[in-house]
Amino acid sequence: MKNINNTTEDVITLAIETSCDETSVSVLKNGRTVLSNIISSQIEQHRKFGGVVPEVASRKHIENINQVIEEALKEAETTFEEITHVAVTYGPGLVGALLVGLSAAKAIAFSKEVPLVGVNHIEGHIYANFIEHKELEPPFIALIVSGGHSHLIYMKDYGEYEVLGRTRDDAAGEAFDKVARALGLSYPGGPEIDRLSKIGNSDAIPFPKAYLEEGSYDFSFSGLKSAVLNYLNSEKMKGNPINEADVAASFQQAVIEVLAEKTLQCGIEKGVNQIVLAGGVAANSGLRQLLSKKCQENGIDLKYPSNKLCTDNAAMIGCVGYYDYIRGLKSNLYLNAVPNLKLGQRF
Ligand code: KG4
Ligand code: ZN
Repeated sequence: MKNINNTTEDVITLAIETSCDETSVSVLKNGRTVLSNIISSQIEQHRKFGGVVPEVASRKHIENINQVIEEALKEAETTFEEITHVAVTYGPGLVGALLVGLSAAKAIAFSKEVPLVGVNHIEGHIYANFIEHKELEPPFIALIVSGGHSHLIYMKDYGEYEVLGRTRDDAAGEAFDKVARALGLSYPGGPEIDRLSKIGNSDAIPFPKAYLEEGSYDFSFSGLKSAVLNYLNSEKMKGNPINEADVAASFQQAVIEVLAEKTLQCGIEKGVNQIVLAGGVAANSGLRQLLSKKCQENGIDLKYPSNKLCTDNAAMIGCVGYYDYIRGLKSNLYLNAVPNLKLGQRF
């Protein structure tokens, strides 16, 4: 085993992410310098089904994983022999998909005699910000909004989280994808709605905005989703033409207003001077704009990753793995996939 106390040597992390429909492998130096970040997307395979098919995802990961590992090492001009440790997503996610990455990571850790570090995927999304913003340090408020998660977190220090709010039903990205599907847009729907919203009128249709009880930082998007579906059905039944851009813009506005307002209130309550966005929905241009404005008005600095680091990728997993590794946190080779892994939970 390599010595973690030898601080003069660079720490080289090999990171693997296969929790959903991207097979991704990255090599990082000292946690925040990305030497390679290969993302093999399966979107084309899943698009014809209108969403991710777990069986197909697992099979594609198996077909891709070895090639993606090879490519990541090659692009980073690194070999297995130079790897200090292996970081891998072990949850939350699709169990069959997670197992492919986990098995590959265990095999490398065992055969090369380097430590294995199991990483929480949600934590990875937050850490994408550390890669993009080299000066960023906790504490801050993080809004993590993706296809599977919507969380408002107070990150006090590396690995220390207080969950302030979460969705009670659909994740934000899930709502974007389902509404997009009803509008006949292709999967994934978030970028399509974002694009259409730019030419639509966000005040055209008064869709409900779910703020929930006074003081709650939880979210709920299923009522909004049903309201959009009901609107589309009733307009069709009346024989009225549907302005897709207006529907997209009005729906997006209802989502981002609630996300931005609750995030800002968390920042004010905790007295932080920085807020970060994370997850696929953090790529939404309307959300970035609205929250930037609110943060500016309140003297808070807003940060978000570039689009490539917002959606699933292994570099963000490697960044968490690095910070866990330097704190001496490792996993054993019996580590299993945990599909419903919670933030702050560790196996
Ligand atoms: O983080 P991610 O790649 O996967 C999960 O961990 O779920 O997020 C994917 C989600 C999808 O629901 C996709 O529609 C959404 O992020 N998304 C967006 C945008 N780009 C991706 N949603 C809104 N606006 C976007 N520009
Ligand atoms: Zn994700």
